[in-house]
Amino acid sequence: MAQQNEYEFLRAFTPDPRFIKGKSHRHYIGGLWEQIGQLQFQFLLNRGLKASDYLLDIGCGSLRLGVKAIPYLDYGHYFGIDKEMGLISSGLRKEMSLELIRQKRPTFLISSGFEFEKLDRRPDFAIAHSLFTHLPQDQITLCFVKLRPILKDDGVFYASFHVSARVPAILKANGAHFSYTRKQICDFGTKNGFTARYIGGWNHPRRQVMAEYRKRVDSQKSAEQNADRVQHL
Ligand SMILES: C[S@@+](CC[C@H](N)C(=O)[O-])C[C@H]1O[C@@H](n2cnc3c(N)ncnc32)[C@H](O)[C@@H]1O
Repeated sequence: MAQQNEYEFLRAFTPDPRFIKGKSHRHYIGGLWEQIGQLQFQFLLNRGLKASDYLLDIGCGSLRLGVKAIPYLDYGHYFGIDKEMGLISSGLRKEMSLELIRQKRPTFLISSGFEFEKLDRRPDFAIAHSLFTHLPQDQITLCFVKLRPILKDDGVFYASFHVSARVPAILKANGAHFSYTRKQICDFGTKNGFTARYIGGWNHPRRQVMAEYRKRVDSQKSAEQNADRVQHL
């Protein structure tokens, strides 16, 4: 993996000020730093996350969850992937000591294509918080297709969404926000080799709902067929 574990490099990287448009790294990923960070972390603990588990934080941003999960997890057990290197570098520089980073050795991957195959471990837990709220269907499908082969067979994936009765993409001034129906939220999993369980509300301050996905072990073939399909999108 090209940029794995290069902490000094990542920490030294200075985000282009235009990139964060005058917003702090905490504000850029949505604010409510402590509340939503703790909400995610406690959610995972309540679902059985242990220090010895491997956690994949998809769209990890500036480490709102990472600042809680990295100190908790064993050495090398946190993986964060994001398309914006500036967010990860800001989180590392402003929220974490170099000593802690060296002690826990998290892994980071800068990618917009969900290149999970570059990770050197298979996660027990994966979470995508406030990511699919910004992505269209084809990107979400790609994430599921790429996740399935690398998630442990007994692993679990949690993803948050905006839910709506109809199908619209809600466009806001500061970027696209997408909402999906409950059926669509489940279909992202079931059509790509997972079982899906709609959890719904989990005390999110912005009313995002949560869904749980587990690998359907008998569906290797259909997941592979979908992977072929996605490659031809
Ligand atoms: C609203 S922020 C949420 C960040 C983090 N999950 C949290 O809860 O603090 C959404 C994040 O998804 C990242 N992102 C958007 N599209 C992505 C993609 N295709 N691959 C990886 N990261 C992506 C953005 O750069 C941003 O950091």
